[in-house]
Amino acid sequence: MQDPVSICVIGSGYVGLVAAACFAEMGHRVLCVDNDEARVMTLREGGVPIFEDHLPELLAKHRGGVEFTTDLGGAVEASEAIFIAVGTPQGDAGAADLSYVEAVVSEIARHIHSYKVIVEKSTVPVYTNEWIHRVLHRHGVAPQNFDVVSNPEFLREGTAIIDFLHPDRIVVGAATERSANLMRRIYEPLVGGSYYAQPSALPGALSASHPAKLLITSAQSSELIKHASNAFLALKISFINAVANLAEAVDADIEDIAAGLGLDRRIGPGFLHAGLGYGGSCFPKDVAAFHWVAQQRGVNFELLQEIRKINETQKDIFFNKVLSALWTLPGKRLAALGLAFKGNTDDIRESPAIEIVKRLLEAGATVTAYDPAAMERAKAVLPPSAKLRYAAGVYEAAKDADAVLILTDWKEFAEIDLARLNDAVRFPIVIDGRNLYKPQRMLDRGFTYVSVGRPATYQAQQGKPRSGVL
Ligand code: NAD
Ligand code: UGA
Repeated sequence: MQDPVSICVIGSGYVGLVAAACFAEMGHRVLCVDNDEARVMTLREGGVPIFEDHLPELLAKHRGGVEFTTDLGGAVEASEAIFIAVGTPQGDAGAADLSYVEAVVSEIARHIHSYKVIVEKSTVPVYTNEWIHRVLHRHGVAPQNFDVVSNPEFLREGTAIIDFLHPDRIVVGAATERSANLMRRIYEPLVGGSYYAQPSALPGALSASHPAKLLITSAQSSELIKHASNAFLALKISFINAVANLAEAVDADIEDIAAGLGLDRRIGPGFLHAGLGYGGSCFPKDVAAFHWVAQQRGVNFELLQEIRKINETQKDIFFNKVLSALWTLPGKRLAALGLAFKGNTDDIRESPAIEIVKRLLEAGATVTAYDPAAMERAKAVLPPSAKLRYAAGVYEAAKDADAVLILTDWKEFAEIDLARLNDAVRFPIVIDGRNLYKPQRMLDRGFTYVSVGRPATYQAQQGKPRSGVL
């Protein structure tokens, strides 16, 4: 590494911690700040508070290269670039709640004594850059001592480290050449390709001959690129879910339709997977925040509301499928496979799976849930109930179940031993909100199988009712 930069990352969540580990991997010196003392202690002791592939190895590799602290002021003073990566949750009327960002900026202001670049890494509405400027001015920071830059993050949970080190693009919204140059220095190992030339580089889509692309824009454009990207991806998901509902109504197959659509290079195959609708800490709040921004500017963007409505409906449709497969829910025993908002993460924020489990419990069903990584977090939000149990694995969850529901697209759930599952359940019914199986295969294995946007396949006689009548 020829030109390391001293970087401070504020927030050690899914974005901050990943960014800190990756900046260290790129050769920079990193101070990672959080005001959650327990989290900082865990990190200092070598613990990793979130589930993310490659993160434990990178943090172990760069122990010493990334330091964890609660001392924001000290970290700011010691750094050239200060990345803000705190939460921006949904606030009133859909607007982003920027109170964490404002609190951090006010504190940063007290510790700027020489030139610093303040970087918005959190997802923020357009003109947040302006607001950060104003707050710093109000606190008396001399204009020549700072620039504010937008550098949105596009990583996905579950593949965050590889997404960060092998990005489709790096977007920087910078108003001055000085701040743009510092950002160029920071990302040089990825943009120049030297990182990929190292034998120890984590492999991904990019290489020394095909390195990362850096796009420099105005701050407003950069802020809008982030909101527009998330809204567009959410649009693709809602679009395919609406088509799935139509496909179901006319006995077509959404998987074939998505394949046919995705082969058009102008459309592309990504984010056309029909299912329970999108969840997570970002799409729901970012679509709402983007709509709020448009409203504030008097721009009609009701399309964003339609994206949200289709997404909400998708959970109702799934719940109704459970009802029509089981007729009544009180006293029924259901296996819920998955609690996380998607596979390969322990994050349950806005998880469709959690919402379905809540509704099943409210309707009187008994649920045995299993998730490979999200059970501890789920226990903190699901109501304690004698009707809700947690299992240590798929087959334990499915034992004596009246139906198995697939709610999260974990790889493990796509690789179930179907004979063993059939042995475990009371009735061989699988209701799959993630389309992990082919209907014909499930039929051949003795299951009644209901999925999204594809005809349901029914066993002529429900396979093997061991007791009771379906
Ligand atoms: P998170 O909730 O996982 O982490 C935020 C961290 O900030 C927490 O550890 C919290 O303790 C800390 N924090 C809050 N206030 C603080 C303060 N005053 N000082 C120091 N630390 C403080 O959030 P996240 O998922 O990492 O998201 C952060 C931002 O990045 C959001 O704006 C989000 O929209 C955006 N984003 C998230 C993802 C994702 O996949 N999670 C991807 C791209 C962008
Ligand atoms: C998403 C974006 O993909 C990232 O680029 C962005 O940085 C991030 O939001 C953010 O701004 O926070 P993430 O929320 O981690 O990343 O997860 P995705 O893989 O995008 O999935 C989001 C939701 O959409 C999940 O519930 C997933 O199950 C669902 N989804 C995704 C579908 O239903 N169908 C698809 O085809 C793809």
